[in-house]
Amino acid sequence: MLTLLIFLFIFVMYVKDIYMISGARIIDSMPAGIIITDTRLRIKHINAFAMDHLFRLNPDDAPDPVLSGERFLTIDRQVFNMHGCMENMVSDGKRTFSKTLILRNQMGELLVHLSVKQFSPSEDARYLFVITDISDEMDCVTHSPDGFSGKEFVLAKTIIGKDQKIRDVYRKILLAADSMANLMITGESGTGKEMAADAIHRLSERKKNPYVKVNCASLSESLLESELFGHVKGAFTGATSNKTGKIEEAHKGTLFLDEVGEISAGLQVKLLRVIQEKTIERVGDNRPIKVDMRIIAATNRDLYELVKEGKFREDLYYRLNVFSIHMPPLRERPLDIPLLCNHFVDRFNYLTGKQVKGLDNEAMRLLMDHYWPGNVRELRNAIEHAFVLVQSSLIGVYDLPPNLFKHEDSGATEPDEAKKAAQQGERQLFRKTRGGRLPISREKLQQVLEQHDWNQTQAAEYLGISRVGLWKKIRKFEL
Ligand SMILES: Nc1ncnc2c1ncn2[C@@H]1O[C@H](COP(=O)(O)OP(=O)(O)OP(=O)(O)O)[C@@H](O)[C@H]1O
Ligand SMILES: [Mg+2]
Repeated sequence: MLTLLIFLFIFVMYVKDIYMISGARIIDSMPAGIIITDTRLRIKHINAFAMDHLFRLNPDDAPDPVLSGERFLTIDRQVFNMHGCMENMVSDGKRTFSKTLILRNQMGELLVHLSVKQFSPSEDARYLFVITDISDEMDCVTHSPDGFSGKEFVLAKTIIGKDQKIRDVYRKILLAADSMANLMITGESGTGKEMAADAIHRLSERKKNPYVKVNCASLSESLLESELFGHVKGAFTGATSNKTGKIEEAHKGTLFLDEVGEISAGLQVKLLRVIQEKTIERVGDNRPIKVDMRIIAATNRDLYELVKEGKFREDLYYRLNVFSIHMPPLRERPLDIPLLCNHFVDRFNYLTGKQVKGLDNEAMRLLMDHYWPGNVRELRNAIEHAFVLVQSSLIGVYDLPPNLFKHEDSGATEPDEAKKAAQQGERQLFRKTRGGRLPISREKLQQVLEQHDWNQTQAAEYLGISRVGLWKKIRKFEL
């Protein structure tokens, strides 16, 4: 990896001459993105690798020689950031700049190494950008400024969080990726179980082999059986042709069984047999088919509790739970909230083309105090909602979804938890908004008073206002 970078760097030192001699042909055949711009960052040349692989652009989109900086911006927002990096480089009086960053295109994300060089005094071909795709080099032993190893660095760019609990998750993901053991990922809804499973597959030796996902809660027992095991023509009414099951599809790769706690008793037995015997039989056929796959199971239920209640087989539980990773709820790592907000603001700026800078202090305080029963998904949805409403460069309280503080559709697993979360959130909303910015309606006031048996001290405490303030409101509403 390092050798490749050094080679590329030496190459770029001489690239101007080569470019002169053989035009764009050599540059086009390079296994790295090469972009040459003039002093105003207008693209003078972009090679095939950058077009096809990095930015996924059609040849028709190829920038013409007088392409403006604006167009450059629309190719990819990260390129715009390069613009900023390069300005820094020039203002610091340096001639080179390099950085590792995530580049997004419509197919997904790539980890790339960017080096920029001011390589000619000519106005027309002033800057050279070399962009190397290092997504497959996650094993590299380099360390990032945060002290992350190469693989951790990749994790830190996707599973956002600085809390020690998330660092422990990274460590376990890396251990899991190195092993072939079946794995259980637990955690409340929206904590990132699926993201963790994706990362494990991507970082494992099986990354080039199939990664097949099945949601065990979304299908009836018989449909799930045929989805997992496949069937032969005529096995049941409607089976008009042979169908390969997901387990077979995952051969040599990874099978992700989401919401595994929902599997029926009958299917639990069959799944256990697959794990023990490493063979399956399609529905309607008794010929065994060999399968070799690694199972990652996920659940937001307390599976051990289900075992104790006799609803989940203990032997299957231990077969799946050889190694386990628990995704911590967001409320246990509140300092990650601002970090995640920035991440989602960046993401939605990228997707919507807006230029939101972040959240104002009051909005951030509300988010910091929230109970987050729906965890990171709920936070992402809140920011997405705010992006629809926001009119200025900062998201304010009024841009956030009102139901955020009521938890009608909370993802909390326990009813008590949801109730607690609702009360806590609502209470915080009242506290933050006292002073009349979000006035309490007559109905709401009446409801709070009834909840507290008309005990004004308790109701005032709940609303975060003084008793006199409450008394004034009661009078105003003639309650
Ligand atoms: N640490 C994180 N950093 C960035 N995004 C995250 C993080 N955790 C979760 N997300 C985002 O939250 C959403 C939910 O994540 P995911 O689907 O992995 O959760 P889950 O635990 O599988 O939820 P469920 O139990 O409801 O299926 C996704 O959009 C994901 O991108
Ligand atoms: Mg999930």
